[in-house]
Amino acid sequence: MFVAPSRGPFLLWTLAIQLVLCGVCAADGTDECTLLYKSTKQQDDIKRLDSLLHKNFTVDHKIEEDSYTYVFKLCSDAGAIPKAGLIQINKKEKDQKPTVIGMYNATQVIGGTDWVMLIYQNGDAYDGHCNREKRKANIMITCNRKMEAGELAVVLEDRERAKDCLYLFELESSGVCPVIESKLSTGTILLIIGICLMAVYLIGGFLYQRLIVGAKGKDQFPNYPFWVDFGNLTADGCDFVCRSQSRDESPAYRAAPTQPIDEQPEERDDHLLPM
Ligand SMILES: *[C@@H]1O[C@H](CO)[C@@H](O)[C@H](O)[C@H]1NC(C)=O
Ligand SMILES: *[C@@H]1O[C@H](CO)[C@@H](O)[C@H](O)[C@H]1NC(C)=O
Repeated sequence: MFVAPSRGPFLLWTLAIQLVLCGVCAADGTDECTLLYKSTKQQDDIKRLDSLLHKNFTVDHKIEEDSYTYVFKLCSDAGAIPKAGLIQINKKEKDQKPTVIGMYNATQVIGGTDWVMLIYQNGDAYDGHCNREKRKANIMITCNRKMEAGELAVVLEDRERAKDCLYLFELESSGVCPVIESKLSTGTILLIIGICLMAVYLIGGFLYQRLIVGAKGKDQFPNYPFWVDFGNLTADGCDFVCRSQSRDESPAYRAAPTQPIDEQPEERDDHLLPM
């Protein structure tokens, strides 16, 4: 491919930036689950399992005469086998190489409201069952708000089929639980904030007046004169708005002839004096 000379530096920069980005990914030391079919939904669902990363889950399981230990790790090497996410160790033949049930570089994720199903494919091939297809591990992770990571449990090993055999495990984790919406409405939150501010004002102001200004009695109440005025003004306002017969009646009302209330007490007194 021909690259115009002027575009050379640009390509170099792109390359350099990509190298730095890859370096960052590699530097945080996590192996990553490689999704078989990439999609944003799957990437979001796998993020819900973050609390399980790097934990070593083991479970012992007996089938008839055989007894196995399963080791599961989320997106990192189980039993130090590269890319093996879930392995099976035969307890009777411990020196034998573990059987890989699923690889985390062939991951699929399905997620619902309160569960995530992790599927590791490309495990070791079955010897005599299932048309010698590759083993596959399904790990069903369900919501339990009480624990970050519960115990791994074996649900079933189904290999008596012609195809699509599977190992099914289950595990509980709080990470897959739906987010609880805050039950407090905005109004309630504002009210609580208001009450808190009020309390801080009262207590702070009280302490200030008492300790720094040295006030006594009701003067310890912060901004006492202001609040007294405020109280009076509010009372006036209330009086003005709520009282059915206003003291300052409109001129039209005053003009009405039958309004003895309007007469000033002094006038009445004057009137009575001569008697
Ligand atoms: C994980 O558990 C298995 C089985 O108990 C054990 O053999 C292995 O050493 C553990 N690995 C780590 C990293 O703890
Ligand atoms: C997964 O990793 C293994 C071991 O490194 C490799 O052999 C295999 O091809 C990889 N599979 C995929 C789908 O990348």
